[in-house]
Amino acid sequence: MTGAAGFIGSHLAHRLVEDGHEVVGVDCFTDYYDPRLKERNAADLDVRRLDLVEDDLNEPIGGSDGVFHLAAQPGVRASWGRSFDVYTRQNLLASQRLFELAAKHAVRVVYTSSSSIYGNAARYPTPEETTPDPVSPYGVTKLATEHLARSYAANFNLDIVTLRYFTVYGPRQRPDMAFARVVDALREGSRFEIYGDGSQTRDVTYVGDAVDATIAAMRAAPAHSIYNVGGGTEASLNDVLSVLERVSGRTLDAVVSQTAAGDVRRTAADTRRLRHELGWGPQVNLEAGLAKQWQAALSA
Ligand code: UGA
Repeated sequence: MTGAAGFIGSHLAHRLVEDGHEVVGVDCFTDYYDPRLKERNAADLDVRRLDLVEDDLNEPIGGSDGVFHLAAQPGVRASWGRSFDVYTRQNLLASQRLFELAAKHAVRVVYTSSSSIYGNAARYPTPEETTPDPVSPYGVTKLATEHLARSYAANFNLDIVTLRYFTVYGPRQRPDMAFARVVDALREGSRFEIYGDGSQTRDVTYVGDAVDATIAAMRAAPAHSIYNVGGGTEASLNDVLSVLERVSGRTLDAVVSQTAAGDVRRTAADTRRLRHELGWGPQVNLEAGLAKQWQAALSA
């Protein structure tokens, strides 16, 4: 598994280990956010410090039954300007090396893409066949990686399944993401900045539900398939702030600022394909999931 020390990757790795699998994780512990958080995520896991662009990956990939590819440079709003270089390297170049080797060793890859490839989508809820139209450089690199995977599938028979995650949250969420920042602000009594008026909505996905979908995809998805992974609750940022205030019993100090470049107004996943083909359904609703995130942050 790549990105095994990250937020979603570490949840997935823990679940696979619990289920009795041997998990070899790789991660390069980049400093996009505090690497100590990643070290904590990976504390009980076998995670090797490897750079997908530079290091020899033949052994971890060739020796595996399947590769979960979660390593990425994440974050929509940070992908402009000079940092685009990092996004192209960590998303596109890193994936290209991985696809080469997975095709050579005939190993299935589950690649985790993003709702950001749709941009301000032409249809809501958005089905997988909607024409992608990303509005952030991050979304462009995630989409380009999907296309690259298709090229390897078409020419070298790469066995690839693509998942498009919609705003995943829960314990250990990446600290740059909105819910984690709100939780931190409530816990520390600091200020949370709302980009825009808070009416933007996201289809939000509890991390355990994203993990279920990811394992089901590795096990049972047809080769070359693509699935949206969305929790089915479309919540505005203001809704989320209210739920977190209720769950924590505290009042948020929030200030309104400018809409962020690259942000979409709305996401809503059409998940019928995932439900029908893989028998998946979300198990944790927003209130329960945010309560778990809040409790985990309090005990961290
Ligand atoms: C999230 C992840 O960060 C991406 O890595 C992922 O690919 C994407 O979901 C996805 O679904 O594909 P985003 O929806 O921007 O992206 O998630 P948040 O960081 O939780 O932001 C949600 C909303 O809160 C955005 O409108 C954002 O502008 C806003 N926000 C964020 C604030 O108002 N203040 C903040 O301090 C942070």
